[in-house]
Amino acid sequence: MLKEISPGPALKGEITPPGDKSISHRAVLLNSIAQGKARLSNFSPGADCASTVACLQALGVKIRQVASDPLTIVVQGVGKGGLREAENVLDAGNSATTMRLLTGLLAAQPFLSIITGDDSLRSRPMDRLIRPLRLMGAKIWGRGGDSLGPLAIKGGELHGVDYALPVPSAQVKSAILIAALFAQGETTVQEPAKSRDHTERLLQAMGVKLKVNGTSVSLSSPVNALNPIDLDIPGDISSAAYWLVAAAIHPDAQVMVKNTGINSTRTGIIDVLLKMGARLRIENQRRIGDEPVADLLIESSELTGVEIGGDLIPRLIDEIPVIAVAACAAKGTTIIKDAAELRVKETDRIRNLAGELSKLGADVEEMPDGMVVHGKAKLHGATCSSHHDHRLAMALAIAGLIAEGQTLIEHAEVAGISYPSFWQDMASIQASDP
Ligand code: S3P
Repeated sequence: MLKEISPGPALKGEITPPGDKSISHRAVLLNSIAQGKARLSNFSPGADCASTVACLQALGVKIRQVASDPLTIVVQGVGKGGLREAENVLDAGNSATTMRLLTGLLAAQPFLSIITGDDSLRSRPMDRLIRPLRLMGAKIWGRGGDSLGPLAIKGGELHGVDYALPVPSAQVKSAILIAALFAQGETTVQEPAKSRDHTERLLQAMGVKLKVNGTSVSLSSPVNALNPIDLDIPGDISSAAYWLVAAAIHPDAQVMVKNTGINSTRTGIIDVLLKMGARLRIENQRRIGDEPVADLLIESSELTGVEIGGDLIPRLIDEIPVIAVAACAAKGTTIIKDAAELRVKETDRIRNLAGELSKLGADVEEMPDGMVVHGKAKLHGATCSSHHDHRLAMALAIAGLIAEGQTLIEHAEVAGISYPSFWQDMASIQASDP
């Protein structure tokens, strides 16, 4: 799909982002091994979470959509010992969260599993996952000298591990914690900086005892049955981020982004926008289950460039493509560093962002671990490629809202990986020319 974006005179209205993708993956996976039934509403409608659901169904879990509300699913947990060998290869599609979290689970099941994914996922690093799981006794093999998917997993008995992750990763941390639910003895995972903690919150809510101490998490086995938990999943701040930036950089904008998760391990985007001078208000703060939620009101702002690095990076890693767009509209220079992880996301987001934003007239320098954006270059419309990367497609679309003339985004359908209604939501806040 080729999507045309034209800058409209104003952005006004209200958007409710889809359910959080990270929480949805974890909620369906952990409830699948709980002892009983759980109802998950506002489940992420994106293709990534559909991949997790399909894999769990192939492993014998009954998961059904509620006919009257397609965003609600009911999971019939099979208990910790109830999964069965899949008849075929499991397909994680584009979703690294699916492949990594499921591998942690499958490493402990008494059967063989093979898990694959699309071209992008099969090129993403899996050695970071295989290494700690092998230390726990797991039998896992991958392509490319055990560094790439597909992965073959011969599940069996595991023991606890004390492991320091070389780079912060919520996916690897979660995979280790999920494997630890089945392991003998204590497991401790230590991160160099804190990554999103949805797995920890959910495990605790389901009755698992964890010791969380700064950037370290410990779990002691044996773990009894997990209690199923009904959840209303908060809106995804990674999806909200597009509208926060769109409104901040547009000259005539006021947008209310409702029901957005504001877990502090995810709110780097809010901190950065406020530091850049955005007129952003956090309203109606409340809790949904164990996660904090708010409505975010954002208006046209005069942004200034900032430096982004260090412990902030894991708190906004998926928002960097759209933060780079904000930086193009800001006065002065924005430096993004310590973010080499961007090179191993769905695509090399440093190279592709620099390349595509340059086509729009932006002044972006590629660095090994980030980029330098010199703001206030006037953007002009151009044909850009999403490189089949959902976050690039959506970030480039936001740039198109302030570029002069028409911007065309190739392979724009890829937004459906995390945000299927992105294009409708964009149209809903775009006032047309009088
Ligand atoms: C995610 C963790 C992050 C993030 C990804 C989702 C998760 O990846 O980039 O989109 O749900 O755990 P890493 O764990 O590789 O940092």
